Amino acid sequence: MPHHDVLAHLTRLYAASDDPWQHRTSAYEAAKYAATLDAIGSGPFSNALEVGCGNGTFAILLAQRCEYLTLMECIPAAMASARSALAANTNVNFIQGAAPDALPDMYPDLILLSEVLYFLTPDDIGQLGDWLTTHATGPVIAVNWIGPTDEPLDGNAAITLLTRSLGDPATKQHKQFRIDTFG
Ligand SMILES: C[S@@+](CC[C@H](N)C(=O)[O-])C[C@H]1O[C@@H](n2cnc3c(N)ncnc32)[C@H](O)[C@@H]1O
Repeated sequence: MPHHDVLAHLTRLYAASDDPWQHRTSAYEAAKYAATLDAIGSGPFSNALEVGCGNGTFAILLAQRCEYLTLMECIPAAMASARSALAANTNVNFIQGAAPDALPDMYPDLILLSEVLYFLTPDDIGQLGDWLTTHATGPVIAVNWIGPTDEPLDGNAAITLLTRSLGDPATKQHKQFRIDTFG
């Protein structure tokens, strides 16, 4: 579970806006999404998982490359926005809950961790890494902003922690973010 204060911080952000990081409009997000799609490839994936989907802005793009897509999100208001954004997508399932505790009993052939790891504690990332080791049947793709965060971890530190479970990734360094592909 994320620390209580992290959950409270995220809840406050989504109470103030349904798009707290301007996923729908910012040039940074558009560039990140294009690079993420490039890293993911065209698929199609039979059973993909995005952990920390936010309001579902990227999931709209991802769903087009997946036979089935499961979206997981710990903040109810964000999950409600994602449900609404993907209402027409009958191939999408929703899990409201926090990784690693609420990770589903599934074996995804693509797992996306986009700007979510630094909300987790180091112990959580260790548990998530253990789950990935036993459940991932395809690539695990982590996308992280590399500047300072408001959280104890930044993107680089979060990836270092994940490599303890998953080994070294193939890393593509962009100006403001990095994309790491494991497996
Ligand atoms: C910065 S947003 C990124 C959204 C989306 N992945 C993207 O890149 O556009 C991070 C999201 O992860 C969610 N989140 C944070 N910790 C989580 C956890 N442990 N389990 C599930 N969701 C989490 C937050 O509530 C937030 O909506």
